[in-house]
Amino acid sequence: MIAFRDVTKEYPNGTVALRNMNLHIAPREFVFVVGASGAGKSTFLKLLLHEEVPSSGSIRVGRFELNELMPRQIPLFRRQMGVVFQDFRLIASMDVYDNIAFAMRVVGAREKKIHERVEYLLQLVGLTQKVRCKPSELSGGEQQRVAIARALANNPDLIIADEPTGNIDPRMSQELLDLFVHLNETGTTVVMVTHAHDLVRHYNKRVIILENGAVAADGGLKRPGGGAARLSASQGRRPSITMYQPTAAAAGQTRSLPPIPRDDELLRTFGE
Ligand SMILES: Nc1ncnc2c1ncn2[C@@H]1O[C@H](COP(=O)(O)OP(=O)(O)OP(=O)(O)O)[C@@H](O)[C@H]1O
Ligand SMILES: [Mg+2]
Repeated sequence: MIAFRDVTKEYPNGTVALRNMNLHIAPREFVFVVGASGAGKSTFLKLLLHEEVPSSGSIRVGRFELNELMPRQIPLFRRQMGVVFQDFRLIASMDVYDNIAFAMRVVGAREKKIHERVEYLLQLVGLTQKVRCKPSELSGGEQQRVAIARALANNPDLIIADEPTGNIDPRMSQELLDLFVHLNETGTTVVMVTHAHDLVRHYNKRVIILENGAVAADGGLKRPGGGAARLSASQGRRPSITMYQPTAAAAGQTRSLPPIPRDDELLRTFGE
């Protein structure tokens, strides 16, 4: 699904943000991308989205070879992916419904289909009650969930998320992660940049650690309790999947999570 071949990205001021990156992400994989500030995570996502282009090397996403992408193909290319930005990028003048519907209107969907899909997505992220609110009337976590619903509006093959839990509390973060895991189980490829190391450790997923623009590690992290690290994306036990339960969240019920010991090796790698 995604292939980076010898990708180097040097910005015009001479900063080399990625160097000789080689990476494959298979369809239906769930990948966390972590690393210290400045390691190149956002640059990686920008290249993936074709917001930036490599200085050398090549990138393939789905059936698109990005070096050969024509400007008129870009909307088609972007349609296969749903993007959750850390700063949401919601449209302030539109209510929740229209923010989500907008993503479908730009690709020419019919209003009836839009209505059905928006209703479904609002249920999925637990925001049915807020359908007529403007972004300014929502909490950070609610805005984040609107951004996620919008990213899912066109049923993307690939979800790219830059710190999607950056603005929400640990319990909501876990519920959102559960939602992403659920989407992944139903066939969506997920690439998520995050600083939420404890969350990363909670899920037994592939983790790519970037360091100074290079892949420093690629595999699984040790699980609490000394479980074996995964060696490849296809190994390891399945995580227990918890369906997103907006009603439980709305009722203020808390799910007790086991404490996750901090991992010295992981912290060293992250530079914390
Ligand atoms: N537009 C740009 N022009 C020049 N240098 C840039 C540009 N964008 C990023 N950089 C540099 O490239 C390197 C990687 O930046 P990037 O934004 O990819 O890091 P990051 O891993 O996302 O960090 P953070 O966790 O702080 O978001 C950094 O040294 C940064 O200063
Ligand atoms: Mg960044």
